Amino acid sequence: MAKTFKWAIIGTGRIANEMAHDLQLLKNVEITAVLSRTQENAEKFAKKYSIPNIFFNRDEFAAFTDVDVVYVASPHNAHYADTMLCLESGKNVLCEKAMAVNAREAAAMINKAGEKQLFLMEAMWMAFFPAIQKAQALIQKGKIGEVRQIDANFFFYKTDDPKHRLLNPELAGGAMLDIGIYVLYFAILMMNELPVSSSSVAYLGKTGVDESSSYLLRFKNGTVATLASSVMVEAERNAAVYGTAGKIQVPLFWNPDKIYCIRDGKKKTYKYKRQGNGFTFEAEHVMDCIKKGKIESNVITHEHSLKLAELMDSFRREWGLKYPFEA
Ligand SMILES: NC(=O)c1ccc[n+]([C@@H]2O[C@H](COP(=O)([O-])OP(=O)(O)OC[C@H]3O[C@@H](n4cnc5c(N)ncnc54)[C@H](OP(=O)(O)O)[C@@H]3O)[C@@H](O)[C@H]2O)c1
Repeated sequence: MAKTFKWAIIGTGRIANEMAHDLQLLKNVEITAVLSRTQENAEKFAKKYSIPNIFFNRDEFAAFTDVDVVYVASPHNAHYADTMLCLESGKNVLCEKAMAVNAREAAAMINKAGEKQLFLMEAMWMAFFPAIQKAQALIQKGKIGEVRQIDANFFFYKTDDPKHRLLNPELAGGAMLDIGIYVLYFAILMMNELPVSSSSVAYLGKTGVDESSSYLLRFKNGTVATLASSVMVEAERNAAVYGTAGKIQVPLFWNPDKIYCIRDGKKKTYKYKRQGNGFTFEAEHVMDCIKKGKIESNVITHEHSLKLAELMDSFRREWGLKYPFEA
């Protein structure tokens, strides 16, 4: 009989709920523990997903060992401490994006995973959708010729509450770390390499974080990516890759169910099914890596997470945005 794979979850917010829901759809998977800041939240979450081990004390969670991987689903500012708590106590980690607030944190987390020989991956779930992987395969096969241009936009309006994690500098708020990271990763995944040059502009709102930010990337072969994100406007959320012989359109690109490949005046649609919210693709990959004894994913690599953190640091320097806890 297959061994049950045991997950723990840190945080009980929106995305923790979405992942917990999806983990329950998988065979031989159990959510064995939850760590919250409060007993009340931990108990409520545990009851909802039938989780046997409840923690609201970090030392007690650290001492708990009956777990195969921990999903860190706290706000950005807490990722470093939560991930280090897990790695120090011998636990593999899938950490929500942005994995680290800055490159200094990212490097320390990656080094710790190496030192402890534990798995660590930034939870860029977009990369594991079959539609994204199909787009990558079509590009690699030259179906749209030489890639020349990439466009991606991620915009939404959720709140103007300055205390909300999206706008609160204490929680490392701002568009870039929350959704700008998707458009940046999209370009990197489509090109299968890191950019050679970049620039950016941002609108810093009342709380001082980037309510809107846009980025230009240039890749080795000259391809330019024109990317934008905002947490203060409702607008398009699409992406496209343009080549010398055609284009690929990816509607709702950060968790897509379909792509269109347009070439010689013909439009071909590739459609895919998902289970639940779509986190199962990422979760299956993580479990596969851990079962094989890997400490790093070959899809979302440590190098990508670190270089992207460095890139985002350079953008924040351009805008003069430092978070209060960054001395
Ligand atoms: N993959 C995706 O599609 C996706 C979508 C949205 C967000 N995310 C990422 O997931 C992470 C969490 O986002 P979310 O939307 O789930 O946030 P959320 O609803 O605010 O939940 C975050 C949870 O973290 C815990 N927490 C720890 N320190 C906290 C603090 N100082 N303030 C508030 N909560 C704190 C809380 O749980 P306890 O009270 O139990 O401690 C809270 O419920 C972020 O990294 C975000 O970028 C990913």
